[in-house]
Amino acid sequence: LVAVLDFGGQYNQLIARRIRELGVYSELLPHTTSAEALKQRPLKGIVFSGGPKSVFAEGAPDVDHAVFDLGVPILGICYGMQLMAKRYHADVARGAVREYGRASIEVKPGAELFRGLPDRQGVWMSHSDVVTKVPEGFRLDAITDNGAIAAMSKPDAQLYAVQFHPEVHHSDYGTDLLRNFLFDVCRCRGDWTMRNFIDESIASIRERVGDKRVLVAISGGVDSSVAAALVHRAIGHQLTAMFVDHGLLRKGESDSVMQSLRDKLGIDVVRVDAKERFLGRLEGVTDPERKRKIIGEEFIRVFEEESERLGPFDYLVQGTLYTDIIESGTHTAATIKSHHNVGGLPEDVRFEIIEPLRDLFKDEVRRLGEALGLAPEIVWRQPFPGPGLAIRIIGEVTEEKLHLVRESDAILREEIAKAGLEREIWQYFTVLTGNRTVGVMGDERTYAYTLAVRAVLSQEGMTADFARIPWDVLAAISTRIVNEVPGINRVVYDITSKPPATIEWE
Ligand code: XMP
Repeated sequence: LVAVLDFGGQYNQLIARRIRELGVYSELLPHTTSAEALKQRPLKGIVFSGGPKSVFAEGAPDVDHAVFDLGVPILGICYGMQLMAKRYHADVARGAVREYGRASIEVKPGAELFRGLPDRQGVWMSHSDVVTKVPEGFRLDAITDNGAIAAMSKPDAQLYAVQFHPEVHHSDYGTDLLRNFLFDVCRCRGDWTMRNFIDESIASIRERVGDKRVLVAISGGVDSSVAAALVHRAIGHQLTAMFVDHGLLRKGESDSVMQSLRDKLGIDVVRVDAKERFLGRLEGVTDPERKRKIIGEEFIRVFEEESERLGPFDYLVQGTLYTDIIESGTHTAATIKSHHNVGGLPEDVRFEIIEPLRDLFKDEVRRLGEALGLAPEIVWRQPFPGPGLAIRIIGEVTEEKLHLVRESDAILREEIAKAGLEREIWQYFTVLTGNRTVGVMGDERTYAYTLAVRAVLSQEGMTADFARIPWDVLAAISTRIVNEVPGINRVVYDITSKPPATIEWE
């Protein structure tokens, strides 16, 4: 284990991730983790992360000083470097000029972390404090063009520090520097893979759960399915998976979830058919926010009733990812839409929570899912909103309209797959607009719904651009939908980016 102690910087989880990419297991741990606790782990190295505070500010996060005596190498990054300097009584000053962005550094001969790397290199800086003098016993390893200290070390004590961020891609040789730290300094082997992650997670879940019973709510999405599969590996039938089918899923989705999780992996999945309840409560409701609220509330109600019936349970598994933690942390952001997830469970849950994916990024979860043997259609599933097709029907949700979006969406998915665009496009779906227009089919006048096709490219869904789908693919989609789905006589393509629009229409 290489422990990354978290002092609150933006890139901290990225440090752990880069280390894992180099084949060394790494976790982000709170900066308050004691030396005693670290000693219990197979520790090969420690990284002090960046952070937003000044090391001299009141309440600035500090580290258990016994950590310096553990005898394992330490790499301080940004705030971590200032912390190390403070510990060794060097001067740290509030930078007269804050440095953000690219800077150029000059490496001094013999700097261990920079072995084999060019003397001049571009790095990514993001800080306001600077170390103004190298602490006694330390050597100066690199300086910036402004003469500021960019790197320093005390090899006899296995202490290394850099002022810049090696974990971001903008630092030209950042990965090489981390590699030098891991392999030359910490003497890591670099043979860690997803398999090890699975083994370690299994061991820790077993130890935590003992012979207690565990519940997981699955939505059909990637995260909850992977979390369920992982916990099932650890504790088998002590795990019960609850799949609330609200009747708002895509065509064939409910069955494919059951097949993949129950039939193939042997997880005890209880499918709760709650379609009537959800549709009943949505009757006559047209306001998008009301729809979202109703679905969220009804989900909680069903969850409570069913968990009571199936229980008692001691633990609840949630498929929370690292990005979810970051995003829900923005308390100041305005509510554009009230999101509903299987994560949106009652606040006063009586269970202890297990979040086996909380250190991972989406693409790591996908790799984990593959390693656990989940079906590709689950592992590579495009994001799907908790409120399901209800927010892809403008106006009231009815059985008939659900049929129209579901059938058109299935055709769209087939055509996108046929064109080999599935993994290129972040999300693609159909929206049943509330509009009806006039058409002509077989000499007859029609008066039927307009359907919109939405397909976007995005990284994390926060911003998006519409996908430039080839005309002939769009033509095939349009022709098939109008021919095969009675009730739709016109197809339009949504060519708006986010912002100003959002990805979903409601
Ligand atoms: P918007 O429409 O806000 O969507 O641009 C951004 C991404 O979030 C998905 N989405 C949701 N996901 N619960 C979810 O789990 C929700 O309530 C929800 N609403 C939107 C949307 O599909 C897109 O990927």
